[in-house]
Order: sequence, then C-alpha cells, then structure tokens
Amino acid sequence: MEKIIDESVQGQPLVLDQKKENQRKLFIESYGCQMNFSDSEIVASILAKEGFNTTQNLEDADLVLVNTCSIREKAEQTVRKRLEKYNAVKKINPGMKVGVLGCMAERLKSKFLEEEKIVDLVVGPDAYKDLPNLIEEVDAGRNAVNVILSKEETYGDISPVRLQSNGVSAFVSITRGCDNMCTFCVVPFTRGRERSRDPQSILEEIDDLAAKNFKEVTLLGQNVDSFLWYGGGLKKDFDKASDFQKATAVNFAKLLDMVAEKHPKLRLRFTTSNPQDMTLDVIEVMAKHKNICKYIHLPIQSGSDRILKEMNRLHTRQQYFELIDNIKRIIPECAISQDIISGFPTETEEDHQDTLSLMEYVKYDYGFMFAYSERPGTLAERKMEDDVPEEVKKRRLSEINELQRSHSKYRLDALVGKTVEILIEKASKKSDEHWSGRTTQNSVAVFPKENYKVGDFVMVRIDDCTSATLIGEAVGYSENN
Ligand code: 5AD
Ligand code: SF4
Repeated sequence: MEKIIDESVQGQPLVLDQKKENQRKLFIESYGCQMNFSDSEIVASILAKEGFNTTQNLEDADLVLVNTCSIREKAEQTVRKRLEKYNAVKKINPGMKVGVLGCMAERLKSKFLEEEKIVDLVVGPDAYKDLPNLIEEVDAGRNAVNVILSKEETYGDISPVRLQSNGVSAFVSITRGCDNMCTFCVVPFTRGRERSRDPQSILEEIDDLAAKNFKEVTLLGQNVDSFLWYGGGLKKDFDKASDFQKATAVNFAKLLDMVAEKHPKLRLRFTTSNPQDMTLDVIEVMAKHKNICKYIHLPIQSGSDRILKEMNRLHTRQQYFELIDNIKRIIPECAISQDIISGFPTETEEDHQDTLSLMEYVKYDYGFMFAYSERPGTLAERKMEDDVPEEVKKRRLSEINELQRSHSKYRLDALVGKTVEILIEKASKKSDEHWSGRTTQNSVAVFPKENYKVGDFVMVRIDDCTSATLIGEAVGYSENN
C-alpha cells in the first residue's frame, strides 16, 4: 500500500511528439497514491503519441482525465466533487470530453456512466494502452469502457512523461497490483493480481532518468518486497518455474542492489514495504549502499494481535517488533513510518491501547493515520459489521495523531545540532528566500538559499525544528554533489 497524497497535482504544459496533425489538449489530474501519479505519466505518454499535449487549464481542455482513488469513501467523494466542477466547465466548453481512470473506474465500471452523466469514458488501471481506441469511440459519439484487469501488464515498455517533475526526483513503478488481501482494502479488487516488471526495463528507465540529471528515484509498488521476476508470470506460479528461471530470478533485494550499484550517485527510495514480506536481505542491501535512503515506510495498521488477524495481516505484533529491532540493529539511523487505521470492526479500547503501546515502542518518525472506512466488496464489508461508532473512531484517531506528533518531534529533536545531507528539491512554501529538501531519512529541512540550486546535495547544520520540519543553514556541498 502506498502513502496517499491528499492534494491533486495538475499536469505541467508540455511540448510532445506531434505525430498527429490534429493537436488536442489534455488536462489530467490525479488523486490518491503515488502509483496513480505515476500512472498518469504513463497515460500522458500514450496520449502524446495520439497528438495530445497537456494543459494546466481545465477550461482549455479537449479531454479531461481524472485518475481516481477508492481507498476511503472520502477519496471517492473528492472525485465526485471534481466531476461537478467539470460539469460547470462543460457548459462553457461543450466539446470537452471527460474520462475517469484508476481505482474508482475499476470499482464502479459502467455504473459510472449511469451515476455521473458527465462521464464519457471509464478506464481501469490495466487498460491504458487501449485509450487511443476508446477515445475514437468517444469521438464517434459513443461512451467507452475498458476495465479489464491483466495478469501481465506492467507498462514496462512505456516511457513516462514526467508531469509534475521538479527535474530532481521521479517515481519508477516496479510492481502492480496486490495479492495480500487485507480485509479492509479495496486495492486487490481495483488493481488486480500482483505482477513484477522486467528488471531490464526498470534499469533502462532509471538510466534514462540519471542521464537527464535526476538525483532521486523512488521505486514504487503496492508491496515492493514482493517483487519477483523470473521471466514473467505471477509470483504464485513461481513454484512451476524452470530450474533456470529459479536460478536467475530477481527478488527485491537483488533489484535494489543492482540499481544502487549501477547508479551510486542517485538517491534511491522505495515504497511501500509490507512487514510480512520484508526480508533481512533488503535491510542488508540498504545498509551496504550509501545511496539507498535510510527510510522505510512500514505500515502496521493495528497494534493488536486480534485485530491484525481480523485484518488478515499475516504477522503478529511480536514479529513486527523483531523486524523493527533488526532494522535498528543493522541500520541504527533508519527512519520508519507507519500507516494505522483506527476503529476497524470489533476494535475495543484494549486493542486501541495496544496500538498506542506499539507506537511507544517504535517511536515512528512519521505516520499516515486514518479512521476505518468500509469499502464495498472487501471481506470486512461482507463479513463484519462496521460497529465502532464514528465518534469513537475519531477520538482514537486523534489520540494516535497526538502521539505520532510527539514522536515525530522527538525524532527531529535528535537531529538538532547535527549536520546532515539534504537534496534540494524546491523553494520553501513559507519563504522564497529558503530552499526545501529532504534528508536521507525523508525529513524535510529548510535553509537559506545562498548560491545553492535545486538538485544540489548540500550539508546543512540543523539549528532548530518544528514538529515536521528541520531548520538550518548550509555549510557546504556534500561529497555526493
Ligand atoms: N479505511 C481506512 N484506511 C484504509 N487504508 C486502506 N484501506 C482503508 C480503509 N478501508 C489505509 C491503510 C493503508 C493506507 C494506504 O490506507 O492504512 O496502508
Ligand atoms: Fe492507489 Fe488505488 Fe490504493 Fe488509491 S485505492 S491508494 S489509487 S491503489
């Protein structure tokens, strides 16, 4: 599972291949996880070949595509609100066509066309290569839907158009789908079976990014630790692979090692890790390479063994502690973040206390915390009553948030007085005189710009911090520069 980005980012204007004479304007926006943002870059690439240039102005668009998230009800409501906005624009620009991509498209399928009259096109996450045909249908005045999930599609052959890029960091997807079947989660239904991308195409994409002077790459997957390439095919069929395939198979630790070795100047990140699949090999590869960032997003969801079981998380609280201990033993400075859900069905006050005590043990650097939202079609929705009252979910969530805030501050405080390497990403939101960048542990730091520029690796002395940001002053370039 991924970290959710709450705001949408709209495509930057681009000048792309002009294969077709008839240039059209595409407005594409994304909600939800980084995988959606990355997929929109694949979609922009597919449509560039069809003569679509991206625009930042909704009002100018010939085609509007919204890449949607189904993870919580609120995410879906946000998209419905956006459709209302498109509706208003369509009154001024009646030729504009509207398409829905991503998880909501997959979940609702052609029902979308009935529920939202504005929608012309519904395309699931594995069907983007069919977009040119689907758009032809729409041009001919018909609605078009393709929500077929695939066991093979990884878009490994598509070179993404970097839509919201600062030219410094980019996402590279390595797996698609998820086989874990956590009972609360809609993703296995919307994104289908788990499949890994050919390492060769991953390396080529990263070579290209390095050649374009990108400085940081995040390897993306719903469950990166599950990466397994043995010449194609699903992970669950690995048993049936030939001896040669087994001997030459590439798992996540190997992939990480290969990329880090080939690009020692590139900062490498990955997300998301699943405790039940993360191996010691991965942690050792992280320790071996300086350029692999010392940060692991390791969702726990609940600190109660009983709830973990109800969630079909295939590990115990004790096993999670052992993993945390191993990480801290092998990489003492490693930052760890969590996802936690409050108010899963049947969660008692005692279960909630277990979550708080687990947090006390780990003292996470950051966290992404949510109240349980029942999702249609999931096992929890079918088998369990959503029986924790909303106000109880909210109260527990605010206790979790509060504790996380104090732990984040505790972790940042420990850096005050130290000098750390920062990769500059952009101007600080609060001050144009300051740069903003991140440490290897993924903490945000701001400092006066001086003569440094975006993309520089800089050593910054940390003088102060808030609960989420380090504040400091540059003392020179880092040796990585
Ligand atoms: N309700 C609340 N949060 C959820 N997540 C996934 N499904 C749900 C749900 N039904 C959270 C999990 C996951 C993160 C991406 O979103 O914590 O790790
Ligand atoms: Fe990403 Fe879909 Fe999950 Fe949302 S529901 S986080 S878009 S995979």
